[in-house]
Amino acid sequence: MLNKTEILQWLQEVQHPGKGDKNIVELGMVDSVEILDEAICVTLAFPKRPDPLRNYLIGAAQACVYRHAPGGTEVEVKTIVKEPAKPSKGPEFNLEQLKEVSNIIGIASGKGGVGKSTVTVNLAVALARLGYRVGVADADVYGPSIPTMTGTQDAQIGMAGEDENNALFVPVEKYGVKWLSIGHVSGEGQALIWRGPMATSALKQIILQTLWGPLDYLLIDMPPGTGDIHISLIGDVPMTGAVIVTTPQAVALSDVLRGVNMFRNPQVQKPIIGLVENMSWFTPAAHPDEKYYLFGRDGGVQMAHNLNIPFLGQIPLVQDIRESADEGTPAALLDRPDSAAFLDLARRIASA
Ligand SMILES: Nc1ncnc2c1ncn2[C@@H]1O[C@H](COP(=O)(O)OP(=O)(O)OP(=O)(O)O)[C@@H](O)[C@H]1O
Ligand SMILES: [Mg+2]
Repeated sequence: MLNKTEILQWLQEVQHPGKGDKNIVELGMVDSVEILDEAICVTLAFPKRPDPLRNYLIGAAQACVYRHAPGGTEVEVKTIVKEPAKPSKGPEFNLEQLKEVSNIIGIASGKGGVGKSTVTVNLAVALARLGYRVGVADADVYGPSIPTMTGTQDAQIGMAGEDENNALFVPVEKYGVKWLSIGHVSGEGQALIWRGPMATSALKQIILQTLWGPLDYLLIDMPPGTGDIHISLIGDVPMTGAVIVTTPQAVALSDVLRGVNMFRNPQVQKPIIGLVENMSWFTPAAHPDEKYYLFGRDGGVQMAHNLNIPFLGQIPLVQDIRESADEGTPAALLDRPDSAAFLDLARRIASA
């Protein structure tokens, strides 16, 4: 069953290009939403002054509802003349909660599935083992995996603060690290429905409206790709720099190049702390001294060299790493050869 709240969420995708791309909901232009049998009727309020974008906005609102509504639903957009209600104040973001955080590091890669989340989780645990105060924000609003990888999927997220408007999330503490994922807030499967501007706003909330307290490192597990979310994130969160993850494979490398360029873009200009090569070789459990270069050899080392980026280390492809991730007990907690790779990585990042 459709409800009004859901339709209002859809309508947040309709931006008013004449008003700094604020959406029509936050501008207070949606006067009413009616749900009839097989029709949805939205009324937009326009002030007396003529709005040159009036027809565009009516069309955009109609198309937006049409796109989301079940097939066959009729969509009507009516208008009334009314001074818009005071714009509803969305959550206002500021950097207050990050003021005691010394370093904010984005873990990124243009490419999906190369092991960003695995590296983030294990690096966090390794830094905590070295005595640092660490937090992790899972910025992958579309496919959050931190809750599973840390075994915190059932954790209840606490809230702090006096009222709804300035409530803060309280991160989950486990393995000496503070974790917060959109998956903790809305359930892992559900996060998949976030879209466009809402995803960005949800994401900023996870990072900026959270009671991190004093931290030496806040790691941000970035979603795959190099889209709007990334640009907005890099622009609004005062990152110290980025760690880029790749595999040695050539196709991964060209995507990763795009990831690197995203941080080097003149508009954002964030330093690249270095490049990590994941899945560098495969070592079977039964033959711990053997190395099989399944995805090619040293592709990441070469790339770091060519791009003039510090190389931070190689992480082997080990069955234990995958299993520990699935079980929620990160490999870096243990004392095994693959844990050592993460501890080395943590030391290198700390000294960078
Ligand atoms: N070094 C490794 N050894 C074994 N398995 C690994 C290793 N690194 C990652 N994996 C496994 O590969 C899969 C993908 O890793 P992960 O989810 O960390 O990638 P990602 O880059 O965060 O992906 P996405 O782009 O979807 O966010 C996971 O199942 C993970 O357990
Ligand atoms: Mg991931």
